[in-house]
Amino acid sequence: MQENNYALQMQDITVEFPGVLANDHVSIDCKKGEVLGLLGENGAGKTTLMNVLYGLYPPTSGKILLGGNEVHISSPSEAIENGVGMVHQHFKLVDTLSVIENVILGIPSKKQRLDLEPAKKRLLELCKEYELYVDPDEIVWRLPVGKQQWVEILKALYRDCKVLVLDEPTAVLTPAESDQLCRAIRRITADGRSVVFISHKLREVIQITDRVTVIRDGKLIGTIDTKDATQIKLAEMMVGRPVTIVRKERPVFEDKKPILVMEGVSAKDDRGIQALKNLNLIVHSGEIVGLAGVDGNGQRELAECIVGLRKLTSGSITIKDKKVNNVIADPSFVGFIPEDRQKTGLVMDFSIADNMIIKDYQNEPFAQNKILRYKVIKKHARAMIRKYNVKSPSEDVKVRNLSGGNQQKVVIARELDPEPVLDIAAHPTRGLDLGAVTNVHDILLKERNRGAAVLFISAELQEVMALSDRIIVLFGGEIMGDLNGETADQQVIGQMMLGQPLEVQK
Ligand SMILES: Nc1ncnc2c1ncn2[C@@H]1O[C@H](COP(=O)(O)OP(=O)(O)OP(=O)(O)O)[C@@H](O)[C@H]1O
Ligand SMILES: [Mg+2]
Repeated sequence: MQENNYALQMQDITVEFPGVLANDHVSIDCKKGEVLGLLGENGAGKTTLMNVLYGLYPPTSGKILLGGNEVHISSPSEAIENGVGMVHQHFKLVDTLSVIENVILGIPSKKQRLDLEPAKKRLLELCKEYELYVDPDEIVWRLPVGKQQWVEILKALYRDCKVLVLDEPTAVLTPAESDQLCRAIRRITADGRSVVFISHKLREVIQITDRVTVIRDGKLIGTIDTKDATQIKLAEMMVGRPVTIVRKERPVFEDKKPILVMEGVSAKDDRGIQALKNLNLIVHSGEIVGLAGVDGNGQRELAECIVGLRKLTSGSITIKDKKVNNVIADPSFVGFIPEDRQKTGLVMDFSIADNMIIKDYQNEPFAQNKILRYKVIKKHARAMIRKYNVKSPSEDVKVRNLSGGNQQKVVIARELDPEPVLDIAAHPTRGLDLGAVTNVHDILLKERNRGAAVLFISAELQEVMALSDRIIVLFGGEIMGDLNGETADQQVIGQMMLGQPLEVQK
């Protein structure tokens, strides 16, 4: 066995899917104790490359070396045996099992009796060592997404991985949680382990990585030392042309009418705990109301109440003067981009074309006399793919096989294209690359300018501030204040996000 300074070397990796060359002779390496950033636009091939390392796809060319020795990895269990850990872009936890059950799931054991106690003890040691605290006995679905992320990381550390791949770990984290993750990553690498870190947030990439590799359209563009990188430089490497960020024009919308009116709305969360408390909110036509707040303060429940997926315990909701309490929203009236595109937004094993009509399949022009008209459906999908720039060789591709960012574009296209009167967009830019983020921002502004009422939910304060006409801050299911988007102060919003109402601050 010959050890070298590299924890991981992937050389000349090629992966081809029908119609897509996802990785085209890509080489990357990561030194021991190093954090390597892996960057690229949506669909560039980042996840695919890491899936090869994890034994999910066999490459058609290339080889993998771990610690200088060539390995052949043909399944995740072989990857784990070889010291590779992976936290997938979309989590793979079993929601109905407890944290500790998830952590030990799949580890072979010679014992006949399953004793969870030693495993719990070891897990708690890891929690302490990396300051990622979770309760071993909590059921996973009850945990907020941030904590689920800790479980995924702890699970890999429990298996003593030498190379840990984090595929967009911060897409679902709050700023405070992202800082916590950065600290944990430093501890992980201080142990001599290596981390491959995929993210679209360039600021973070610069903060946390030692070197950055950029891929574009499946090809290696280059690797640079992070100390020589700037956000602009990385963005240019990613998109292949100079990038500029321009603040959008925002014409005054004259004819404002109340579209969404919520009065005294209360509701419970999945655990039966009060999630919304006597909430009053109005969104007018031609305005974007940004809903800021740390995730888990009622944002999800609020959106679900509006679209009729969650029961109100009191209060009333009207959309364009029509009472809609506990009524599933009419898709031509309300566009809803849910926060979890895979569980709520898409049927993963349906094609793009089928996902595009899923709310409308019984209606003209997609069906006639209850018979689906596939020519029309496919033509519609092709038009949407072009309009929303979905990267896919055809409309027949299963949504499961699209990159994360392109899945999001499918949801957006379906929800916003019938031109609803009310758009609810929950974290619509999560996991999108720079170009796609700008695209979504443009789409939401366009919606506003045509007169739609837009409720924009995001945990990214920067984008809430950049986009909103009004900013509402939610904390513990209550509205802490209602601010003018143009003049709102970041500090004040930050305080409100921590539960200080505006009056108290003044
Ligand atoms: N199982 C699959 N079958 C067919 N095509 C696939 C499959 N997996 C990925 N692809 C395609 O390969 C390309 C690269 O996808 P990949 O998921 O690696 O991108 P990514 O860089 O991770 O993007 P994102 O930032 O959006 O997550 C995309 O065009 C995608 O549609
Ligand atoms: Mg990906």
